[in-house]
Amino acid sequence: MTFQILSYPGRVETFRKIFGRDMPEVGFAGSVEEADPADVRYLMAWTFPDNLARRYPNLELIFSTGAGIDQMTAVDIPPGTKLVRMIEEGVTTLVRDYVVMGVLGLHRDLPTFLAQQRQEIWKTRDFVWPDERQVGILGLGELGMATVNALRPFGFKLAGWSRTAKTIDGVDCYHGADGLRDMLAGTDILVCLLPLTDETRHILDAKLFAQLPKGAGLVHAGRGGHLNQDALLEALDSGHLAGAFVDVTAPEPLPVGHRLWSHPHVVLTPHIAGHSRPESAAEATITNIRRHLNGELPKGLVDPKHGY
Ligand code: NDP
Ligand code: OXD
Repeated sequence: MTFQILSYPGRVETFRKIFGRDMPEVGFAGSVEEADPADVRYLMAWTFPDNLARRYPNLELIFSTGAGIDQMTAVDIPPGTKLVRMIEEGVTTLVRDYVVMGVLGLHRDLPTFLAQQRQEIWKTRDFVWPDERQVGILGLGELGMATVNALRPFGFKLAGWSRTAKTIDGVDCYHGADGLRDMLAGTDILVCLLPLTDETRHILDAKLFAQLPKGAGLVHAGRGGHLNQDALLEALDSGHLAGAFVDVTAPEPLPVGHRLWSHPHVVLTPHIAGHSRPESAAEATITNIRRHLNGELPKGLVDPKHGY
C-alpha cells in the first residue's frame, strides 16, 4: 500500500519526511519510478494523465495538491475512486489574508491613490466608514468562511452567496439566482472565492457587474475562468467599477501587453493568493488517509455531481 506524490522537489521531500515520521506503515513514493503502480492506493498531484484507471489499477483516493480541482475535470476518475481537494490551514491563511488585503485596499481606494501617485497628484477623496460598506462574498466554503471571520472585526456589513441555503451569524446569506441579484444590489466590494464549475464559469460578466452599485470593487481570487476580462475592463473604463484586485486570469500567465497589466485601477497578482503549505498539507493528507482506513469520509471529498 503506497502513497505517491508527484510535485516539485521541496514539497515531495517535506511529505517524505512527515510520512516517514507519522505514517511509516504506508509506503511512500516521490516519483513515478519509486513505486509499482499496482501498489499505489493514494495518489497526489496537481494534474493527472487521463488513463489513470489503466495505469493505477488499485487507486482508492486521488488528492489534489491544491484547494481547487477544476484542473482535473478532464480526468477520468476510475470508478470507486474518491477525489479529494486540499483543505489545510496554510492555504486558508494565505487566501484569507490576500482577500482581506484586497478588501481593505478597495475600501481605502488604494488603486486610485496608486494611480494618483504615479501622476504626482495630491488629492483627497471623501471618507467612507466600514459600516457604510457591504462586502459580498461569492462562495461560503472553507476559504469564504475564513475570510468572513477575518473581516468581522473591521465592521463591514457582511453578505455571502452559496449554492445551498445557509444561516451564518452576522452575515446576510443568499443562494440561487434571485439571491445573487439581491446580494449584488447592496454590495460595494465583491469577493469571488467560488470553485470553477459548469455553473460558475464566466459568472463575473457584464450582466453581473451592471447589478453592482456604481463605484463598487472586485477582489477576484477564484479562477480565471470565472471572469470575463473584457467585461471587467469595460466596467472599470466606464467608471461603473472603481477598482479590482485580480489574482487569477485566463490564460495564466496573462499575456504580455494585456490591458489588465496596465489598467490604472487594477492591482494584478500572478495567482499567489494561496498555496498549500507542505508541512500542514502532509499532516492533513495523513489525517485523511487515516480517516479512509477507518471507514470515514476524507475531509475535502469532491462531489462529482457538483464538480467541487
Ligand atoms: P469550498 O468547496 O469549500 O467552497 C465552495 C463554495 O462555493 C461553497 O460555499 C459552495 O456552496 C459555493 N458554490 C459552489 N458552486 C456554487 C454555485 N453554483 N452557486 C453558488 N455558490 C456555489 O471551496 P474553497 O473555499 O476551499 O475554495 C474555493 C475556490 O478558491 C477553489 O475552488 C479555487 O477556485 C479558489 N482558490 C484560489 C486560490 C488562489 O491562489 N487564487 C487558492 C486556493 C483556492 P455550498 O456551501 O452551498 O456548497
Ligand atoms: C489552489 C490554488 O487551488 O493554488 O490551491 O489555486
